[in-house]
Amino acid sequence: MKIVVTDQDGKKHELEGLDGWQAMEIIRDFGLPIKAECGGSCCCATCMVHVDEKWLDKLVPPSPDETDMLADQLDSKDNSRLSCQIIMNEDLDGLEVTLAQSAKP
Ligand code: FES
Repeated sequence: MKIVVTDQDGKKHELEGLDGWQAMEIIRDFGLPIKAECGGSCCCATCMVHVDEKWLDKLVPPSPDETDMLADQLDSKDNSRLSCQIIMNEDLDGLEVTLAQSAKP
């Protein structure tokens, strides 16, 4: 499965996704600029991405903790999610996200 990631400079990258992995782990392990300081524990928000509108309904809705974290981010938008809370599966093959500026190391 694929994830299409646009980085903070507007460059697109097509990454090979892995079933059951966090989107954050895949983005990080491919070496794209994402801080992900807490390592995927939903407590830093430095893995924030903006999700292409057509994919939003396919994602599991955010937990109250994720919603709280997103609300504290200055560059959060209606389509923002924490990429460590997006668990890849076949339904998300082709997922398109853009890395938030605040996620840049
Ligand atoms: S890596 Fe910290 S909230 Fe996602």
